[in-house]
Amino acid sequence: MHAGVGQTVAKIILFGEHSVVYGYPAIAMPLRNLRMIARVEPTTRPSELSSLGWVGPLDEAPARFASIVRAVDAALEFAGHPNARLRIETHAEFPPERGLGSSAAAAGAVIRAVLSAFDVDAEPEDLFDLTQMAERIAHGHPSGLDATATSSQSPIHFQAGATTAVQINLSAWIVVADSGIHGSTRETVGHIREEHERCPEVTRPRLAELGRITAEAVDDVRAGDVSGLGQKMNDAHRLLAELGVSNARLDQLTAAARSAGAVGAKLTGGGRGGCVIALARTSADAKRIAAALGMAGATGTWVYAPHAYEVAA
Ligand code: PMV
Repeated sequence: MHAGVGQTVAKIILFGEHSVVYGYPAIAMPLRNLRMIARVEPTTRPSELSSLGWVGPLDEAPARFASIVRAVDAALEFAGHPNARLRIETHAEFPPERGLGSSAAAAGAVIRAVLSAFDVDAEPEDLFDLTQMAERIAHGHPSGLDATATSSQSPIHFQAGATTAVQINLSAWIVVADSGIHGSTRETVGHIREEHERCPEVTRPRLAELGRITAEAVDDVRAGDVSGLGQKMNDAHRLLAELGVSNARLDQLTAAARSAGAVGAKLTGGGRGGCVIALARTSADAKRIAAALGMAGATGTWVYAPHAYEVAA
């Protein structure tokens, strides 16, 4: 064994968070400049973790690192060295618990780092399965969207475990803004599950509507219909709020983005905190919207040109 490195990226969900858990489609985009890097090296001492400012023995890691611990175990098992001792370090260029896929990205990076340390090649399906083992610890019944998007090279369409690359032909910009509030995906996924059991006649049509919006958004993305897409973002935000996964802060930020000229805006990811995304027609609009979101209290903003992705045919 030698030192190993693994890398994944943050992601945003353009459409389909939560409804994707119920088998409906989703569209997600990796954010290639927001990286998650994991490094591992052999040690003679008990395994040690350094992550998000916490340093200590791996078997004493606080509950918030449980999915990383699972990722290390799963990768060592896969590599055929279940008892190897490692120093593991993660470095994130984006904040955790903001709907940017931090848990899947961390698990994916650690798994890749461990496998590279043992020179073990893994198929994409193996990497996905290993990441999902860790994600189940992080939030119960993950759809697999985060595990896929955080290791993808281009925007993806994801449905019931099947992934295809999506060519985004939009002449538009996406502004991502961090509310600064920690969101718990486990909590919001659990909330919708409870509502789905308690009141299926109300919850089911909302999830189905999100599914329909997402399916139509795929056509808008391919056709470059910016207005259609913006409207669908607003509709998706309203439905997610009705499902109980928005909050006053996210409603405020999406409203601020629309007032500053966004064609549409919605929460992204698990919700009740985390990030919002807004669609802008021009790069100047995007800058103005990002500034307005900063004035409205966003703790961080990023601007992306989704058409800058090259999708392999
Ligand atoms: O909050 P994030 O970035 O972990 O995104 C979660 C996406 C959900 O659809 C809410 C859950 C899932 O498993 O797909």
